[in-house]
Amino acid sequence: MQFVDLAAQLATIRESVDRRIKQVLDHGNFILGPEVKELEKKLAEFAGVKHCISCASGTDALLLPLMAYGVGPGDAIFTTPFTFIATAEVISLLGATPVYVDIDPNTFNIDPVKLRQAIEDLKSGRKPTPQFPDGLQPKGIIAVDLFGLAADYDAINAVAGEHGLFVIEDAAQSFGASYKGKMAGSLADVAATSFFPAKPLGCYGDGGAVFTNDDTLATVVESLRVHGKGKDKYDNIRIGINGRLDTLQAAILLSKLEIFKKEIEMRQQVAARYSAGLKSVVKVPHVPDGYTSAWGQYSIISDRKNKLMANLQEAKIPTAVYYPRPLHIQTAFAFLGYKEGSMPVSEQSSATIFSLPMHPYLNTEDQKKIISCIDKLS
Ligand SMILES: Cc1ncc(COP(=O)(O)O)c(C=O)c1O
Repeated sequence: MQFVDLAAQLATIRESVDRRIKQVLDHGNFILGPEVKELEKKLAEFAGVKHCISCASGTDALLLPLMAYGVGPGDAIFTTPFTFIATAEVISLLGATPVYVDIDPNTFNIDPVKLRQAIEDLKSGRKPTPQFPDGLQPKGIIAVDLFGLAADYDAINAVAGEHGLFVIEDAAQSFGASYKGKMAGSLADVAATSFFPAKPLGCYGDGGAVFTNDDTLATVVESLRVHGKGKDKYDNIRIGINGRLDTLQAAILLSKLEIFKKEIEMRQQVAARYSAGLKSVVKVPHVPDGYTSAWGQYSIISDRKNKLMANLQEAKIPTAVYYPRPLHIQTAFAFLGYKEGSMPVSEQSSATIFSLPMHPYLNTEDQKKIISCIDKLS
């Protein structure tokens, strides 16, 4: 059994993928070829935003808007510690400082009440730890749609508006999800997604995309993606990066996009079967009213996590822990001085959470096996 079965997916789209790859090999425009533009247009339509700028990874998709907003030393960016390192790494990479805000225990996403408090604290000169630089100015927020479930953007955007901060939606795990009738990628000032192969919409390598309705921001991100280009890449008007998506990856994504809506529906069925079978034995994911998850992961909470994971492993059922250690206590962020106990919900979640195989092609027989393996131990 696979944790994410890319071979089963490929079997359904093989002809289309082969055809599109051949087209790229035939026309030879490997960098920013026609497939890249076609993909960007289709992705923008899918997310319901004006601009999609594809890029080389989900990490670059976070870095580029931060660069476009001019984030640097002295800036505080508020984010969740219960996420993949990339979310916060890009903040530090630019010399700015991540300020961690603990999560809601039911959604695992940033808690808007604690977010407001953290912003107000910093503004009144109360630093999260003594090691924090003095005089940090709140500049923006990166909210993460963890496991495919959108964060609470009505509340987050309202807090941001009160304090004049920008909001980036880290939709790396949530492309295809919806929140109160709007699609992931359209929920904040700007959004970033990842096309890492295991993501809901994944390519066959690294890839990502930025989404926004802001014309100026889109123009700057597009320039930053190609070495800060002006008229062309030999007219350099700002410091940028090489952050382009390969034409071959765009071609692959175009094939996958054809079946993506159906796959998101299939993920709902897989998740519903899990929740029906497991809700009386472990804490299953909570999807608030008005939300649809893209089910990037199906993660459960149990005090008997280690025993359950060992038994599943014995039955050759793969599992994974997202995330074994929250970012505020990762070695890379030791310089910020956060201590264990400072983000109790994230820490408790790390200790008790693990994820089950999740992909659109997971069949009922395999799911029954997984559910009964958990059921008999609980
Ligand atoms: C929440 C989150 N943000 C950002 C990223 C970075 O994406 P990539 O691996 O494409 O750089 C990931 C990827 O795992 C992620 O899960």
